[in-house]
Amino acid sequence: MSYPYQIKSLEQYHEAYAQSIKNPENFWGDVAGHFQWRRRWDKVLDWNFTEPKIEWFKGAKLNITENCIDRHLENFGNRPAIIWEPNDPEEHHRIITYRDLYNKVCQFANVLKNNGVKKGDRVCIYMGMIPELAIAVLACARIGAVHSVIFGGFSAQSISDRLYDAQSEYIITCDGAYRGAKDIPLKSVIDDALIGNRTVKRVIVCTRTRTAVSMIKGRDVWWEDEIKKIETLGMTDCPAEEMDAEDPLFILYTSGSTGKPKGVVHANAGYMVYTNYSFVNVFQYQPGDIHFCTADIGWITGHSYIVYGPLSAGATSLMFEGVPTWPDAGRFWEIIDKFSVNILYTAPTAIRSLMGFGLGPLQGKKLNSLKVLGTVGEPINEEAWHWYDEHIGNGKCPIVDTWWQTETGGILISNLAGITPSRPSWATLPMPGVEPILVDENGKEVTGEGEVSGNLCIKSPWPSIIRTTYGDHDRCKKNYFSTYPELYFTGDGALRDAEGNYRITGRVDDVLNVSGHRIGTAEVENAINMHAGVVESAVVGYPHDIKGQGIYAYVIYNGTHGDEALRRKDILQTVTRIIGPIAKPDKIQFVSGLPKTRSGKIMRRILRKIAEGETENLGDITTLLDPGVVEEIKNGKI
Ligand code: PRX
Repeated sequence: MSYPYQIKSLEQYHEAYAQSIKNPENFWGDVAGHFQWRRRWDKVLDWNFTEPKIEWFKGAKLNITENCIDRHLENFGNRPAIIWEPNDPEEHHRIITYRDLYNKVCQFANVLKNNGVKKGDRVCIYMGMIPELAIAVLACARIGAVHSVIFGGFSAQSISDRLYDAQSEYIITCDGAYRGAKDIPLKSVIDDALIGNRTVKRVIVCTRTRTAVSMIKGRDVWWEDEIKKIETLGMTDCPAEEMDAEDPLFILYTSGSTGKPKGVVHANAGYMVYTNYSFVNVFQYQPGDIHFCTADIGWITGHSYIVYGPLSAGATSLMFEGVPTWPDAGRFWEIIDKFSVNILYTAPTAIRSLMGFGLGPLQGKKLNSLKVLGTVGEPINEEAWHWYDEHIGNGKCPIVDTWWQTETGGILISNLAGITPSRPSWATLPMPGVEPILVDENGKEVTGEGEVSGNLCIKSPWPSIIRTTYGDHDRCKKNYFSTYPELYFTGDGALRDAEGNYRITGRVDDVLNVSGHRIGTAEVENAINMHAGVVESAVVGYPHDIKGQGIYAYVIYNGTHGDEALRRKDILQTVTRIIGPIAKPDKIQFVSGLPKTRSGKIMRRILRKIAEGETENLGDITTLLDPGVVEEIKNGKI
């Protein structure tokens, strides 16, 4: 497969960028011409950010799996589509060619149909990182069902909320999942999520750990049994459902600054075109390269750069079940040498954690197949950048620092590997079709000669922009398109230099980024406040060496049970139950009051500073209802 739209020089980048802004419809129409459509579009783009209403490739018909699988079969059906490396290095890896993938996706798509799943139905997927997860995702897309993948670190309560919000009637899960030394009992968590649920009709359970599970008659079925039924019926192929360009492809829940996580909705055509375009250009993928994205498919990075981007480009995507530090901190490096990986795409938190083990785990590792390195999820500090460059890339691999979000579907700001310059801790230049703008607090554009800073917004739509938040379009409007009229607001702050390079400085709203995972402070506070002994709480982020940000909770407690250590554990247990282990605070400080203004608003700025270790310059505290509380909090800092 060739990529005529792959940018090959800095000059071509500037040309492509200029064209994409001058005439986005021509630009994206040309790119889209290289995909397989059942029917071409009537209009490339129709949009306004007021409602918002964004339609790409209007009137076109397609199925994304025909682009990710079927169209590759004739010329390279035997090429590995997915290489799967299990958690345990002693277990054998699996190689799934495009032909195998076709067969397996068709088979499971038929299983879904046989179990009553229809076009437009929402299917919740809660699985570990095994090939069947990618197969389940693609099988949904094949029959036009809308997948909603939930990361394995979320609790039964979180699953239950998401099932309810999406009105999902079908679940695909595993008995359990392996992650390092742990077995996670996924089906048992699903069972808890389903207590009292009357909507879910079917749970399909794939075998992985073979831990004991309770299979409920009439509701729960085994994946393997269902496949056998399909084989008996002789149903090998599964014609792909014809989808409208704007039909939803998937929902992915993500945290915001207020309320419960919202279901970000992505549409078929635009998401396909943009994830492919960004994959091919940012990583400079060449046919035959092995691409290793270490994310979990439970997050957007896995959706876009393990599944849809690589597969639509006919690439070989390496999927890893385990964690970077088990059985030892050489696991990534061993995998890279084992499969001669060419592109490694990981998170700064993983790099920092591996840096902490020193150079021992790199002993005897060649890493000479690597051509391109990438990072995503949070700002990368210069120290980690240089370590990655020197010890993993051996000084010869360009590092792409890719900035994007669940809502953007694909990478929006990044250098292109080896084509546009990289610069430690700068995401650098916008992708073609992406028009960033910095604004001040009042929405006024920030301009200026040298380096400027502001809130990062985007002026016009790119093909994989969020279409709505599931079931609540108004929320989408309020969250992203209302802070600054006629602009998409990212929630991030950024610097821009005179050459137009961007450096992302972090969230400017109450959203934390813990190990590259997005968590709303309000969400964690709500969970802590559910504990019977808690009166009130305030949660802020603080700099954490490995995680980037840690969670610091200030808690007013009036319960009578246990000592302080036990109370902390009780609170952690509550957060684990309500959200999941990923949202557990790193530090809990018990306080007698919180710094509030006279109107009752918590002054988080002060709490943030104290959590960061600042004791002197806390700003003006005279407007506080009870300034004395600040002294107490400062003294009790942990
Ligand atoms: O704050 C930015 C940070 O991660 C947020 C998006 O989180 P999520 O939707 O979970 O998606 C993560 C994977 C795409 C952004 O608002 N972020 C992501 N990439 C970078 C980043 N911050 C700095 N540099 C990056 N490269």
